[in-house]
Amino acid sequence: MSSIYLDHAASSWPKPPEVVQAMVACMEQYAANPGRGSHEMAVKASRTLFEGRKQLAKLFRVKNPNDISYALNTTMALNLAIKGFLKEGDHVICTAVEHNSVRRPLEYMKQSRHVQVTYVKTDRHGHLRMEDVIAAIQPNTRLIVCSHSSNLLGSILPVADIGELCRQRGITLLVDAAQTAGTVDIDVNGMGIHMLAFPGHKGLLGPQGTGGLYVHPDIELEPLLHGGTGSQSEAVEQPSVRPDRFEGGTQNTPGIAGLVEGVKWIQRETVDRIYRHEWELTQQLMTDLLEIEGVQLLGPELGQAKTGIVSFTVSQTDSSEIAFILDQSFGIAVRAGYHCSPLAHETAGTMERGAVRASVGCYTTKTEIEQLAAAVREIAKHMKQ
Ligand SMILES: Cc1ncc(COP(=O)(O)O)c(C=O)c1O
Repeated sequence: MSSIYLDHAASSWPKPPEVVQAMVACMEQYAANPGRGSHEMAVKASRTLFEGRKQLAKLFRVKNPNDISYALNTTMALNLAIKGFLKEGDHVICTAVEHNSVRRPLEYMKQSRHVQVTYVKTDRHGHLRMEDVIAAIQPNTRLIVCSHSSNLLGSILPVADIGELCRQRGITLLVDAAQTAGTVDIDVNGMGIHMLAFPGHKGLLGPQGTGGLYVHPDIELEPLLHGGTGSQSEAVEQPSVRPDRFEGGTQNTPGIAGLVEGVKWIQRETVDRIYRHEWELTQQLMTDLLEIEGVQLLGPELGQAKTGIVSFTVSQTDSSEIAFILDQSFGIAVRAGYHCSPLAHETAGTMERGAVRASVGCYTTKTEIEQLAAAVREIAKHMKQ
């Protein structure tokens, strides 16, 4: 197994010990069905779900915790938001760095519901110009979907400016916070975000199988799932009350128990400090990589704001080969290929070979970064021969 883990943008690891302990405690002591019974264990399970909503609401400055619904991951949350909101004939704007978890549901809506989609280009570093977003608005634009940070380039998109634009034009804003929840400050009201899709298993330090969607109280959505909620069992329709409306079926209580501790850990550490730590590591890695002949960096330049992602190519070598050597010969886990974001690769001009992506987390050390740079230096030397 790899001894240096630099794939936090996919799923963070390791988790704080409190996260693991809370999950084990739930499994051993009270993994009963939340919201389905009135016995003590079921009540404790329900309380855990509510505690999670409360902690997430505090982190994202959401007024009513019940406006946050759990989902298995960001993809499920994005599908709920996109399919639940859009109607036939609507126009949607998104960016040319979106993940397939945004692009595919939008393309599905285009095929099946005649929704129109405009992809607004960014520059090759992943920076979006507001003029281009404004120019894309049509009379039937109802939704803007925007990744808060590109999972290939690490650029941070101007969500607050888009939020202000949406407020002026009466457009709804859905933000994909897969790469920023827990690592970049998010204030849903201050930034004018109407819907926020987030993972629990990345920056929030919870386990896989957790995530969620915040929906502004004025926004109506069709549920993605219809089924048991433990409430209003006599009604044939899905309850209108939140979060039950969007949470058909049994929730992942042990996972949420872990997520609660992950979010508390972040609040103690503070998002600002985590951002700073990750930013400094990316700057160090970029500086080291820039000195290696044949290495090309993608994304924002040195000194600019970005999340903990450094993507690069080495000469003409296929990115999977580099990642394989890093893993097998140096014990370093990174990701290669297209990162589920062919749009971003088109933007960066790396459609042919993909890119290697190293992504840091709150536990990543300077030494690990130095070891990655040394390994890439060694590989690049051999690739030249
Ligand atoms: C920008 C972005 N959006 C969506 C996703 C999908 O996230 P999840 O795996 O939680 O569904 C990812 C995953 O890496 C991502 O980086």
